[in-house]
Amino acid sequence: MSMVLSRYRLTILFFSKTLKRSKYVTPMSGLRITKFCCFGKSSLLFMYSSYFLNWTADPENSFFPGDGLLHLSEDGPGEEPSEDDTLSSFNEWALPAKEFDGLWESLLYEVGLKQRLLRYAASALLFTERGVDPCLVSWNRIVLLHGPPGTGKTSLCKALAQKLSIRFKSRYSMCQLIEVNAHSLFSKWFSESGKLVAKLFQKIQEMVEEESNLVFVLIDEVESLAAARQAAISGSEPSDSIRVVNALLTQMDKLKAWPNVIILTTSNITTAIDIAFVDRADIKAYVGPPTLQARYEILRSCIQELFRVGILTYAQGGDLPCILSFSTLKEKLHCPEASEPHTLHLSKLLHKGAELCDGLSGRSLRKLPFLAHASVPNPSCCDASSFLHTLIQTAQRELLESRG
Ligand SMILES: Nc1ncnc2c1ncn2[C@@H]1O[C@H](COP(=O)(O)OP(=O)(O)OP(=O)(O)O)[C@@H](O)[C@H]1O
Ligand SMILES: [Mg+2]
Repeated sequence: MSMVLSRYRLTILFFSKTLKRSKYVTPMSGLRITKFCCFGKSSLLFMYSSYFLNWTADPENSFFPGDGLLHLSEDGPGEEPSEDDTLSSFNEWALPAKEFDGLWESLLYEVGLKQRLLRYAASALLFTERGVDPCLVSWNRIVLLHGPPGTGKTSLCKALAQKLSIRFKSRYSMCQLIEVNAHSLFSKWFSESGKLVAKLFQKIQEMVEEESNLVFVLIDEVESLAAARQAAISGSEPSDSIRVVNALLTQMDKLKAWPNVIILTTSNITTAIDIAFVDRADIKAYVGPPTLQARYEILRSCIQELFRVGILTYAQGGDLPCILSFSTLKEKLHCPEASEPHTLHLSKLLHKGAELCDGLSGRSLRKLPFLAHASVPNPSCCDASSFLHTLIQTAQRELLESRG
């Protein structure tokens, strides 16, 4: 047992050292960095030519052409300190933030979900900007993502905010993301909750009053609000709680008057969420466990990363093999002679692993290569093929454990 734990500890050290060393290596040429001040902390101004190329190459982006000048804020989340040592009620980021760089691309879902969210946001902002009368056509700028734990709901909200901050940068010179900790609003110091909600929305109000600001409010695990309301109705919570939830809903309604705010919410409850809340959301998207293609691509991105940092090696020598994308693999299966045999072998092994992982969340999948590494006999030099066999065994073990 102690041997297993020390192997696990070694693996943590090994992964974090290797990945940390290579984390910020960007393959960009002509990077110009100038320090400037934003929100009182230092940020970096990037002349990010590769972003510009992506922008124009991506037809989704052609509506809102950028000028290639991007501010990637290096600030971590700013936390609002609470006066009484309770949990702070929100975190805030200046967008686009370095922390969320690449997050959008790393999230893999069934085709259409990400596009649906992007189009929704573009329409919401356009309607507001053109001054569509909300008495005639109503929209709330509220998104609800719901689904089982670990399916990337919170990450998708953050990635969406980041993506929109880049897409709309010519209209809004500043973007902020406020992440509300719903649990902290309903802390055991319950009488304080009303004050926390008021303080939070006062802060948001100050932000949205600035026309050139685009503000995203992320309310995570929104079911805790609904639960508090239900409990209050059934009498098992102080009636105070219903006042706080109602105050929150009223404040959200008030925010509707401002054109430059989008409210993103998540919930683990897939069925009944407080009806008053659900009604307010324009889009209620279910985010489920990854499909076979998404599982394959998630694992493939993990394996490519381990190749990149040298944790995985290639016993055959020569160039590192690339693992085929899901769609290419499907094509190559019909004419195997057309592809390099080792690449095909590794891709098939990965496909087997992805098939096996049916039911695992995106979060569990992203952990799997790490757990597999902790079980290989020679962690400092892993051959890709034997690593993938270990990955398959690890997946089997994880599935057994998750099913109890
Ligand atoms: N479909 C997916 N594609 C890629 N990565 C994913 C996917 N789903 C989850 N992940 C990864 O799993 C991790 C956890 O995601 P996140 O915290 O956003 O999930 P969540 O749905 O909000 O979970 P919870 O319901 O427990 O709050 C993140 O690192 C994310 O990148
Ligand atoms: Mg979450």
